[in-house]
Amino acid sequence: MRMPLNWHHSIPVAKKVVAFSNSFHGRTSLAVAVTDNKNYVAPVNETDNVIFLPFNDEAALAACFAKQGSEIAAVIIEGIQGVGGIRVAEESFLRLIRSLCDKHGAVYVADSVQCGFGRTGKFFSHDFAGVNADIYTMAKGMGNGFPVAGLIIAPHIKPKHFQLGTTFGGNHLACAASLAVIETIEEEKLMGNAVMVGKYLRDALEEIPEIENVRGRGLMIGFDVPESLKALKSNLLTNQKIFTGEAKPNVIRLLPSLALKKRDAVDFIDALKEEIAAITGVATEA
Ligand SMILES: Cc1ncc(COP(=O)(O)O)c(C=O)c1O
Repeated sequence: MRMPLNWHHSIPVAKKVVAFSNSFHGRTSLAVAVTDNKNYVAPVNETDNVIFLPFNDEAALAACFAKQGSEIAAVIIEGIQGVGGIRVAEESFLRLIRSLCDKHGAVYVADSVQCGFGRTGKFFSHDFAGVNADIYTMAKGMGNGFPVAGLIIAPHIKPKHFQLGTTFGGNHLACAASLAVIETIEEEKLMGNAVMVGKYLRDALEEIPEIENVRGRGLMIGFDVPESLKALKSNLLTNQKIFTGEAKPNVIRLLPSLALKKRDAVDFIDALKEEIAAITGVATEA
């Protein structure tokens, strides 16, 4: 991220980055600085150059740009917050980011590390808003387990000579792995699968009265687990050998393979109901 921002902003006055409450953007220093989680931010990462605003709050964003638009270099946002608990960025909010960045010459950075690469049924979940970002970050699903990450940088941000690269950048094996993933996504229509199986899962989860606030897009789904069911995640692992994600304090996060079959999703829902019944002592209808 440092690199394209450096290319874009030759005028050093614009050096602030807007990020949002409950964001998570990674573990390297600038990414930690724009992450809204005190557990991860070391004193060395603290900087006055990051402005945290409430997620999905259009009035706060507009007011911030009105006050200090000329100082803002970039806005960074996840299309769906992952570590923050599966919170979907509203389409109108993303469109407002686009228009304010255009007006003030700032860069819109779409963090797609977790919500990108087809996971939500669109290639980038930011695409639901119908506007383009200037920079997209990608990783996780990109190599189907092979370590690879990437950036897409809009052509209007011109590269400069003699900037830093990275030791393993452009690794041929990683690129081959990622191309194979893209081919498989296309050939096996996995984005369509994410929409179809994701809808089944969300509908089925909504029918389970013990869990709350089912949300997400495609195969990026979250729901709240009440205090009385707090053993649910570990019981799913121990008793059913199903590993789910979590977000503190009480969210179960589901980010299964994009190749998840409907029958696997049915098995998951059955297993979930069984474990809920084992805790509450009341069987949920199958
Ligand atoms: C939204 C988001 N951005 C970025 C990252 C990248 O983190 P890192 O590359 O430091 O592991 C993650 C990892 O979990 C993430 O969820």
